[in-house]
This record gives sequence, C-alpha cells and structure tokens, in this order.
Amino acid sequence: MDAIRASGWWKRKILVAVVVLVVVGAVGGAFTWYKFFREEPQPDWITKDPDMRFKYGSIGAERESGIPYWIFYVLPRMFPDKLPKPGGLAALGVSWEQGQELPIGFTQKVVGFPRVANNCASCHAASYRTSLTDNPVFVGAGPGHTLYLEGIFRFLVDCAKDPRFNADNIMREIKLVTNLGWIDRQIYRFLLIPITKKRLVERETQFAWVYRKDLPDWGRGRDDAMNLTKYFLLKLPMDNSTGPTDMLPIWNLKKYDREGTTMNWAGDSHDSYSVIIDSALGVIGAAPKHKAEFLDEVKWLQQYLREKAPPKFPFPINAARALDQGQCGGRQQGGARFRYRAQGSGRGVARGLQRALPRRALAPRALSPQRLRAHGARSPHPARPAPQALLARLQPLRSGESRLRLARRRGEVRRHEVRYDRARGEQSGPRLRHRALACRQGRSHRVPEDALAAA
Ligand code: HEC
Repeated sequence: MDAIRASGWWKRKILVAVVVLVVVGAVGGAFTWYKFFREEPQPDWITKDPDMRFKYGSIGAERESGIPYWIFYVLPRMFPDKLPKPGGLAALGVSWEQGQELPIGFTQKVVGFPRVANNCASCHAASYRTSLTDNPVFVGAGPGHTLYLEGIFRFLVDCAKDPRFNADNIMREIKLVTNLGWIDRQIYRFLLIPITKKRLVERETQFAWVYRKDLPDWGRGRDDAMNLTKYFLLKLPMDNSTGPTDMLPIWNLKKYDREGTTMNWAGDSHDSYSVIIDSALGVIGAAPKHKAEFLDEVKWLQQYLREKAPPKFPFPINAARALDQGQCGGRQQGGARFRYRAQGSGRGVARGLQRALPRRALAPRALSPQRLRAHGARSPHPARPAPQALLARLQPLRSGESRLRLARRRGEVRRHEVRYDRARGEQSGPRLRHRALACRQGRSHRVPEDALAAA
C-alpha cells in the first residue's frame, strides 16, 4: 500500500518537474525570440511614402549585417580619431537630411532590438547646393558622389579593433544619450557589444583588400563594385585587381528598355532586374531569409526606379556647349556631362566617353586614355564618328599645371565655381588644393545625366 502511494508521489513530482521545465523553456524561448528575433515593421512615414521607402526603408540587411543601434550611435563620438576629419559620420560624405535620425541609405529596424543597416540609397543618393548659403538638396537615386565608402568600411573595423571598444566604455557613452532598462543593459553589455566587436573585427579579413596600402584609395563617390561582388558574395580568392568605379544614378531605369543599351560602366548587364538582385544580395550580405519577401522588394525597387524621374538640372545650360552632344554620337546624356567630366582627369573623360559609345565596344580596361586613343583611331562604331572632340581633351598638361587649371584655361570650369572660390577668400586655397588633388586622383564631377535631358 505504502509502495503504491510512494510511486504516485513520485509520478506527481516528475509531472510537476516536467511542467515547470516546459513552462521555463517556453518563457525562455519567448524571451529569446522577443529580445533577439522579433521583427517590428518600420513606421508608416517610411513604408507608405515611396521616396522615403527608397531612402530609409529596410531591404532586409538588418538581420545579418545590422549593427545594434546604440553602438552605431556612439561610435563616431567615441572614435573621432578614426574619421578622416571632424564632423562625425558626415565626415564620411554621407547624405544627411535635416531632421533625420540617420543619413540617407541607413535603415533602422527592430529585429529583437533596433539595428542599423544599409539600403541602395547609401550609394545611390546625391546632394547639391546652388549657392554657398543654401541648404543642400538631396536627390534619391542620384549618384552618391560624396560618399567615402572605403572610409566607412575602415572606420567600423578600426573602431572594433581599438581596445577602447569595450563594454565599460560603450555603456558609459550609451548612458549619456538614453536610458536602457536593466535587461537591455545586460544584453548590450554581455552579448551585443562583444558579438558586434567580434563580427566587425572579422570583417577585416573579409575586406582585407580594402586595407591594402599598395592599391590606390577608392576616393569619394566610388566603390569597388566588382571586387565587392567577387570577394564578398562569390567568395573568390583575392587577386591583385582594383576597380573602383564612380557611383551611378539609378533613376529612370526605363531608359534601358531601348534596344542596345546596357548597364554599369562596363556595360556588363542589360537586365535591371538582375542588377538589382545582385545589388540587393550584396547589401544584405547573406541569403535572404524569406525568398518571396526578398523578390517582392526587388520588384518594388525595379518598379520605383523605372518610374523615378531625374531632377531638373539646377543651373542654366549653355546651349552652345551642349552642342558637344552631337559630336559625341548623339547620346541623350552627351555634351554637358562630358564637359564637367573633363574637369577631372583623362580617366573622367574616358568614362564619359565610355557612356557615349555603344558599351559593347569598350571593355572595362578601356578606361585608360591610351586605350581610348586606340579606340578612337579604330573608330569603335562604324555608325558613329570617332569622338575626336573628346580625345582632344586628353591633352597633356603644361608642366606644373593641375587638371583644374587646365580646365580653367579651356574655360571649362563653371562660373559659379569660380565665384565660390572667391567667396571663400583665404580658405579657397586648401579647397582648391583639395579639388586639384581630387582631380589628380581621377575623381570627377558628376552631372546628373538625365537631369540634363529633362531640363
Ligand atoms: C556600396 C554601394 C552601392 C550600393 C549599396 C548599391 N549600389 Fe548600385 N551601383 C553601385 C556602383 C558603384 C555602380 C556602378 C558599377 C559599375 O559600373 O560597375 C552601381 C550600379 C547600379 C546600377 C546600374 C546603373 C546604370 O545606369 O548602369 C543599378 C541599376 C544599381 N546599381 C541598382 C542598385 C540597387 C537597386 C541597389 C540596392 C539593392 C544598389 N544598386 C545598391 C554602388 C552601389
């Protein structure tokens, strides 16, 4: 009798223990899901307005590549020494609209906790000012001509490698700007900070080529798009190639419906859908979690960018100079674009030229003036005249002359830029030097090409 009672007692004990374990497991699971994986939709001001969605909308990069919001927030403040100049993130040339918490192209989404990642607009958004005293105008889908992307990669890794990147210091900084609850503080201190540090430091090996001192700096407005794809997405072994290219505007993608037009500087694709898929995979940095959701986003982007109209060119256009267009083979982008590019280097012109010619005619390596000359001599496209007018621009410099001076000598610098220098008085010196340097490094001024056509 006693034995039977004892076994019933044990059964009850075991049952209670099992129930307790299940409850604890369920609560723990729910807690883990809630604090680390639950996804909250972005607010309506982002999702309901197509332009805002392009600039700030998540394309799913937060899951794998997101950085915990508060860590991202305090880094520029903690490590100003790792930025190229004062000014916080703005020193990296991001486009930052007034009143916005994050720069254009930086997305914030809650995946367990608020995370910051990127979308297309980080490279495809531009800004301009029509005078020194104006606020900048931001143009979504324009070419990110000021963005120092290589600097951003380096900044994050350099911060993570620094011994000051530790829980004590970061928590102290976070405390200055927000009050996290006790649980969130523990999560940050014991999980998010060490994990973020580890993942960022790992990027140094993934992006080893970004740190190579023997390769030229990408410069602002440029991205080594092909190598990013090769090493990061396809995991190919590192070779010695370098191929930074200017960011492109991606508005009005409808223009590529026309027969014979191709995308990217090297004309290596003709299908915007596939270019967008590649780009989006590169941005999210991993296989998409939900394929259907990913493809919906790609289709939305394609539709939006097909219809997104270029802005009107903000300055008066010199009709006489715009005639260059004819000499360039009649491409709609023509004339003025080349004129501005010519302020840069031979390479800048070469790129403009490359856009003007049927892209098939020019391989990526055709970017050097030498190769272009060779092309010109052979007249790359029988239906179009050899672009002698442009080749003539590749004149040698007089000794000691900068590209900028050369552009001045030829009257190719726009008037407002000259005024701009005068207005800066003494400060125009360094600014000019900076420009001349930019020119020597082959960086060029961009003119929104379709904007010219639209003007
Ligand atoms: C890291 C910077 C960066 C990001 C982020 C980025 N792109 Fe690009 N994109 C570039 C560069 C640089 C080129 C030019 C590449 C070349 O010519 O080889 C380019 C080219 C393109 C082109 C071809 C445009 C043309 O006229 O030839 C399209 C379309 C495009 N990107 C769409 C996107 C979309 C959509 C996204 C987001 C899913 C995106 N890109 C994200 C840098 C970026």
